[in-house]
Amino acid sequence: MTSAAALALAVVGVGCGNKPSGDIKPDGTNGPATAPAATEWRVGAYFSLSGEDSAFGVDSRDGIELAVDDINKAGGIKKKPMKVLFEDDKSKPEEASNKVLQLIDRDKVVAILGEVASSRSRSGGIIANKKKIPMITPSSTSPDVTRIGPFVFRVCFTDDVQGPTGAEFVIKKLGKKKIAILFASDDLYSSGLAKEFKDAVTKMGGEIVIEKKFLKKETNFTTYINEIKDAKPEIIYAPVYYNAMVPIARQAKAVGVKGDMFMGGDGWDAEELLKDAGDEMEGAYFTNHYAPDVPWPNAKAFLTKYQDRFKHPPTSVAAQAYDATNLLADAIGRATSDTPESIRDAIASTKNFGGATGNITINADRNADKAVVVVKIHDKKFTYFATVGDKSGTVPAATAAPAPEKK
Ligand code: PHE
Repeated sequence: MTSAAALALAVVGVGCGNKPSGDIKPDGTNGPATAPAATEWRVGAYFSLSGEDSAFGVDSRDGIELAVDDINKAGGIKKKPMKVLFEDDKSKPEEASNKVLQLIDRDKVVAILGEVASSRSRSGGIIANKKKIPMITPSSTSPDVTRIGPFVFRVCFTDDVQGPTGAEFVIKKLGKKKIAILFASDDLYSSGLAKEFKDAVTKMGGEIVIEKKFLKKETNFTTYINEIKDAKPEIIYAPVYYNAMVPIARQAKAVGVKGDMFMGGDGWDAEELLKDAGDEMEGAYFTNHYAPDVPWPNAKAFLTKYQDRFKHPPTSVAAQAYDATNLLADAIGRATSDTPESIRDAIASTKNFGGATGNITINADRNADKAVVVVKIHDKKFTYFATVGDKSGTVPAATAAPAPEKK
């Protein structure tokens, strides 16, 4: 647990008059397995707090801590505080499995929050499901994640929604039909989203003029970009994480391919993209779950609170982690008993939960039916551009998608 969260709990002191006997000792071991459940809701969180995708982990942790402090200030859940134990999986799928196992076997958590990257949510989710501890991923969109089994949930849409939505936006709103795709073939999210997008483009009468795959370890994209350039696409779809998009954008600009030639998915969502390639990405669009200026209820209050505390605007990843935490707390509160099975059932029956990222109803496949937001990169900021396919009732009719841009 970070010092900020520890402090919040200490200051609030909900139910903490006596130190819980099952608390983690300085040597990392914990006390009697039965004690923690009696005094606090112990929740495990595993994220990429270090390593190549650290922005995802750090932003998620910030969103979770903001939510936990609110929950505990309001008296906790069923009069007990929520305590989140964070583990760093170092951006590695193997570590994700280890950390989830540790949180369950050593720390006896009743539920788990994590991860952002689908590849790591899959590794961690397999363990959580096997051990029958409910897990909610705030941000993983690969359909494979919740398919693991009945204990794995998400509070976001899936890539078989995001891909076709991106395709529809490119073809119908931007009016571009000749499309290139550039993606990481050895990443679950990137390759899955590329496929969903490609299938939708073909169905909608668009043409994939070239498709280039790379491996996650690659850092030089100039050859691919030049080949793409030669194929003369009207737009390049790059469903990759921010840490790959930064060098892609920089190397593209160097050979004359500008930001407005790119379209992406939610994996672009990190401050680092704006900081390190904001100029190069000017004019690019991507599908996402949220942007700081989304015009719907609950988003504004979250934005203010988040900015006040962290002094920068929240990313979608932070907003989703905040929502996942609050939704979990709500489910623990509704559960008919304190067991992980009962909490699982309560998560599964969540309807119309008002989050910062929209209204969340958990469907029969343990996914959320939510609006896809199109974000435009402008002036080194992520700005809300449109909402597509809202089935959740999140978006007030008056703020539905604006007219397409004339170019
Ligand atoms: N959807 C991505 C995945 O499944 C993770 C992600 C979500 C990244 C939102 C950034 C923002 O891997």
